Amino acid sequence: APVVVAIDGPSGSGKSTVSRAVAARLGLSFLDTGAMYRAMTWWMLANDVDVDDTDAVAIACAKPVIVSGTDADGPTITVDGQDVAVPIRGPEVTAKVSAVAAVPQVRTRLVELQRGCAEVAQRGIVAEGRDMGTVVFPGATAKVFLTASEAARAERRAAELRAKGVDEATIAAMAADLVRRDAADSSRATAPLSQAADAVLVDTSDLTLEQVVDTIVELVER
Ligand code: ADP
Ligand code: CDP
Repeated sequence: APVVVAIDGPSGSGKSTVSRAVAARLGLSFLDTGAMYRAMTWWMLANDVDVDDTDAVAIACAKPVIVSGTDADGPTITVDGQDVAVPIRGPEVTAKVSAVAAVPQVRTRLVELQRGCAEVAQRGIVAEGRDMGTVVFPGATAKVFLTASEAARAERRAAELRAKGVDEATIAAMAADLVRRDAADSSRATAPLSQAADAVLVDTSDLTLEQVVDTIVELVER
């Protein structure tokens, strides 16, 4: 069976960075499922869908064509052929993505796309998100639940934003949003963020990126 490495955890725990590095080391594809929920949200906002109207989102979510490029050296994301890698990281999408991701029809559609990506991956895939180990790939080769203290996660996000030249008021607002989003993601009815029973917990608070990557590569290879 093809290798599937499932990595879940809260915002800022290091999922994207670590998963990409693990995929590159092992020669596997890489899938950022959060980017797909962000792309869906971006399309809703661009098309004036009221994202707080669950029924409207449930109907509209069938429309956009979302394509994830799964090369670990340069992942891509398009909606109806348009490159949305930059706008999906903006504050407007970040503020609304948890609401869109809580709609069951959205999840059904994106889970199908995610499994399709795994099926066509040449040598296997490292998939990261909130429900990789619990819902999307219950039979994964290896499952990891990444955590870090809230302070560490907020500080990492802040460092990223500071490096981009973002002002301190916006950074503080994004930190508050991170706490709100984790609570929303953990408490929703459908596929809440949670550690799969057979996932290995890795607390990255006091580890270097290198140490985390080594730990996961060892897990996959054993
Ligand atoms: P997530 O996908 O979980 O939201 P990201 O990978 O986007 O997390 O962000 C994590 C940030 O923290 C990156 O900027 C990464 O370089 C940094 N970081 C610092 N130390 C670590 C560590 N030990 N493990 C993972 N990420 C770390
Ligand atoms: O990188 P960050 O932690 O900021 O978020 P992300 O991984 O890009 O995910 C954005 C949002 O998408 C999350 O807050 C969840 O609401 C949703 N999501 C989800 O519901 N299920 C997934 N498998 C991945 C993301």
